[in-house]
Amino acid sequence: MANLFDPTTINGMALQNRLVRSATWEGMCEQDGRPTEKLANWYRDLAQGGIGLIVSGYTFVRPEGKGLPGKMGIHTDDFVGDYENLTRAVHAAGGKIAVQLVHAGGQTDAKNAGRQPLAPSVVQVDQFPEIPAELTKDEIIDIAAAFGEGARRARAWGFDAVQLHGAHGFLINQFLSPLTNRRTDEYGGSIENRSRFLLEVYQEVRETVGADYPVMIKLNAADNLDGGLELDDALYAAKKLAEAGIDAIEVSAGTPASGAENPAREKINKPEKEAYNLELAQRIKDMVNCPVMVVGGFRSYEVAEKALRENGMDYIAMARPLIREPDLANRWLQGDDSAAKCISCNGCFKPGLEEGGIYCVIEKKEREKAAKD
Ligand SMILES: Cc1cc2nc3c(=O)[nH]c(=O)nc-3n(C[C@H](O)[C@H](O)[C@H](O)COP(=O)(O)O)c2cc1C
Ligand code: SF4
Repeated sequence: MANLFDPTTINGMALQNRLVRSATWEGMCEQDGRPTEKLANWYRDLAQGGIGLIVSGYTFVRPEGKGLPGKMGIHTDDFVGDYENLTRAVHAAGGKIAVQLVHAGGQTDAKNAGRQPLAPSVVQVDQFPEIPAELTKDEIIDIAAAFGEGARRARAWGFDAVQLHGAHGFLINQFLSPLTNRRTDEYGGSIENRSRFLLEVYQEVRETVGADYPVMIKLNAADNLDGGLELDDALYAAKKLAEAGIDAIEVSAGTPASGAENPAREKINKPEKEAYNLELAQRIKDMVNCPVMVVGGFRSYEVAEKALRENGMDYIAMARPLIREPDLANRWLQGDDSAAKCISCNGCFKPGLEEGGIYCVIEKKEREKAAKD
């Protein structure tokens, strides 16, 4: 029976346990996307904390695919030395790291993208007020190629795997979703057509890195939006990806426009509120033959173990708990299996935007209070 601390492998990548740091934008890069020493140290600390696999913050494959300040970029060979330092730091600490490849699509603005945002169709999405331009077929082909180039760099620079970002309303998700994809060509309309871009990106990446390198995806199983991506369409995409050879699917749901059902829900303060994407993930698991990871609100050891044992999950992914406690995996392994200390307030976003990097604002307040007392 699966246990959180089983060693496993994903297409040759050996992992020391079934706990995954889900992709978390840290806001610690230079404005052109060059990773900093601060970011390398952040990942080193996560590796030292015993997490089985780190998935990097989302990393843009082309400059206009940048969505937030301080985001990582993998669009140029210029960053080779900085990325090699980063992957070396993780490996020296005994960890494994995948890079999450993204194009933000219409979920950005001219300030970050350096131009009018590009999207499948001219549809403005909530929280991103700028009207995007519709991608031409040539641009679609170029972006798929850029995912391949990003993956090539990732493998050459020491990343152990890549993860495509097919969730949370970014470009791949925008193609999948009927709400943001109103195209009348072969990329729009039926789910076969709406998943064409995703499958082309996957093929481009697979051909570039070869069969013996892990290629994974974070996929929305639902957008939690009226008219958005629904489970049946996500099941279709997951099945096609599994048939094409994807090595793992991490299941998430929601977009920044989904209100209380956004990807990072707040106030996860009792076990019943945890694991909020688990039912969707189980439906995907029933459809595919590759490992499935689930993310969203995991806070307690028992809930995580139960998702493996009773729902057939292969990996449990967490984001916010590891901002607060980068050594959560080791703490649990060493027998202190009390719940993660994160209170799911989302206060950590703001310092990412304003102070050159995310951190747990609650922990900081507690430290300051303790120093005063
Ligand atoms: C500060 C912050 C940054 C995030 N950045 C990313 C990201 O780069 N890519 C991604 O797929 N999800 C991102 N997420 C979403 C998380 O990966 C995760 O899906 C969500 O927070 C729910 O998991 P949790 O309850 O364990 O935090 C981010 C979440 C937070 C709080
Ligand atoms: S600020 Fe701290 S407690 Fe709040 S969500 Fe972020 S990590 Fe969790």
